[in-house]
Amino acid sequence: MKKFKLFTTFLVMAFMLILTACGSSETSSNGGDSDKEKEKKTLRVVTDAAYAPFEYLDKGEIVGFDIDIVKAVAEEAGYKVDIANTGWDPVFLELEKKIADVGVSAITINDDRKKTYDFSVPYFLSTNKIMVPEGSDIKSAEDLKDKTVAVQNATTGQEAVEGLLGKNSSQIKKFENNNLAILELKAGGADAVVADNTVIEEYAKNNPKDKFVIIEDKDAFAQEFYGLMFPKGSALKAEFDKALNELLDNGTYAKIYNEWFKVDPDVQILKDQQ
Ligand code: ARG
Repeated sequence: MKKFKLFTTFLVMAFMLILTACGSSETSSNGGDSDKEKEKKTLRVVTDAAYAPFEYLDKGEIVGFDIDIVKAVAEEAGYKVDIANTGWDPVFLELEKKIADVGVSAITINDDRKKTYDFSVPYFLSTNKIMVPEGSDIKSAEDLKDKTVAVQNATTGQEAVEGLLGKNSSQIKKFENNNLAILELKAGGADAVVADNTVIEEYAKNNPKDKFVIIEDKDAFAQEFYGLMFPKGSALKAEFDKALNELLDNGTYAKIYNEWFKVDPDVQILKDQQ
């Protein structure tokens, strides 16, 4: 009888062990799935889609180099994105208030912004340039001093022009987006637009009828690097940096760059900044 009892106990224990084993294997696979589910969280990405070719509206859809980059980086990091065209100032407001998760908007990384936000490693090299009507007597940044200059408000372009004309100069016309600054130039309300080189170069090339030319002034305008912007202290920074570096290394970044700019990027110049 005792033997029988022992045997039953053994059987019950063995059965329980099997159950636990099954259970635990099931739990771990379930756990894996739900972890993946968690990673596939949708991030709110905010942009000012009036800055072609980085972000602009094409038949109501937000497209551009930045948009392809942020989608690819987010995917690499295991996230889905929901991209909202909020306009420029709200990009900063939403990130400061932690309403949005990521800002992508050809945003230059600088010390002032770093006080309030975190940035990814750089993904694009840019510089401000000057756009003027053909035949203009403006040949350098110095020549802007007695002219009216249109800029997008709260951009590095505005800052650069303030450096030349003075912070409160009435010759600086500030607009909510860069397209409005260009319209002002077109309408003759300004003598020049100062903005990121790629944006005005593309504009001049795609709108030959406007007869605008681009002036470079390396002494007046520094090199700038764009970064994806996060709320201060966001855990996404580390994840996105890792993902972005992966895309820089595995050729995905170069492929996207080539699609938009028809040339290969200088990946090393970006890496050197890290
Ligand atoms: N790179 C400049 C800056 O960070 C201008 C960016 C403007 N971007 C835009 N989507 N409107 O200040």
